[in-house]
Amino acid sequence: MQAERTQKPCRTHTASDDDYFIAACHLIERTSSLYPMPRALITGITGQDGQHLAEFLHEKGYEVFGLIKGQNNPKIEPLLAEFPYVRVVSGDLTDFSSLVAALRTVQPDEIYNLGAISFVAISFTQAELTSNVTGLGVLRMLEAIRLVGGEKSNPIRFYQASSSEMYGKVREIPQNELTAFHPRSPYGVAKVFGHHMTVNYRESYGLHASSGILFNHEGPRRGYEFVTRKISSSVARIKLGMQDKLLLGNMAAKRDWGYAGDYVKAMWLMLQQEVPDDYVIATGETHEITEFLQLAFECAGLGDWHKYVGVDKQYFRPAEVDLLVGDATKAEKTLGWKREVDFPSLVEMMVRHDLDLEAKRAK
Ligand code: NAP
Ligand code: GDD
Repeated sequence: MQAERTQKPCRTHTASDDDYFIAACHLIERTSSLYPMPRALITGITGQDGQHLAEFLHEKGYEVFGLIKGQNNPKIEPLLAEFPYVRVVSGDLTDFSSLVAALRTVQPDEIYNLGAISFVAISFTQAELTSNVTGLGVLRMLEAIRLVGGEKSNPIRFYQASSSEMYGKVREIPQNELTAFHPRSPYGVAKVFGHHMTVNYRESYGLHASSGILFNHEGPRRGYEFVTRKISSSVARIKLGMQDKLLLGNMAAKRDWGYAGDYVKAMWLMLQQEVPDDYVIATGETHEITEFLQLAFECAGLGDWHKYVGVDKQYFRPAEVDLLVGDATKAEKTLGWKREVDFPSLVEMMVRHDLDLEAKRAK
């Protein structure tokens, strides 16, 4: 079992403080007598957020461990090429004993549970798998924390990647921490399960377990299956003459899109608080997919997007989430978190990145 953390009083956070400095001081208070470097275990390290978080925690002086599934996961090599400081540990969110073994090996101070089947569309056709990984996976990790960290004064801090998809058919606009959930996909249902389990383990066993209810966040590391990356890469390929058309589904959907690099800072800040809690992380703005299209095509100098974009019914979902917009006031006040990248800058960042990338691939 891991040694107990040193318990020292922490100052209350306010938005006017130099929050990152204070949070770093708290972290040193908690860990300095135990390890030369704090240890973080990230599940989902090969995903968009896992990569941003690994980079961020490394810069903060952490030893970064990443849980990797599979017997020869092809993502290990590119991961270690870009992040050579990451230490890989084998495990799968569907296998409880592998999580226990990973925690025993790493002895983490902090666990960021980002691993999931995260693509909403696929969750309709693979609902059982999604429930197992994205839902039950959270319960397995919480149980592994109890087992390895101990019943009393468990020293492991836990972050759960909850989602705005839990709001689904939204009950109010904007959505905050108290807004009722009405998920519209098996993915959303699984996330609600994971979210409530996290709250329940915090309340039942006193775990330092927090949930970030993150609204959509994007960037150049976004998977190609998600609409923003599909658009930015297609725009680049159309510009370079490698593609003619872009086919999409429901273009009337609105999302509160932020930049992933900003959002992983919020995850870390949550685990530096004395008291665990749940926080909405969002920009407070919502944009239709057509607005993303307009900015993306303009950025590449292609003009009117209508000339290139068509509709394909295969991309429509059995049920939709039409209007997400988050109220991050609590995170701004308590954590001192604020987003730095606005919507037009995000679109431009993604399109410019994909123009460079596709040009290199074309050579
Ligand atoms: P992502 O790019 O799809 O990454 C998902 C990660 O989960 C991958 O590393 C994947 O590993 C891993 N994974 C899948 N099945 C697993 C299993 N059985 N055991 C262990 N790991 C497994 O997702 P993301 O965009 O970075 O999002 C990170 C987390 O935040 C997810 O939980 C997502 O649901 C949640 N979230 C994301 C957003 C957003 O807008 N990005 C918003 C709210 C919440 P492989 O690569 O090996 O398959
Ligand atoms: N992927 C995709 N592809 N989406 C499309 C397309 C298309 O061709 N055409 C229209 N859309 C619409 C979807 O129907 C949805 O309303 C919206 O674009 C956004 O879809 P995604 O980019 O796939 O993201 P998401 O909002 O469903 O889910 C993402 O954000 C959630 C947070 O709200 C994922 O990252 C989830 O893991 C995350 O929890």
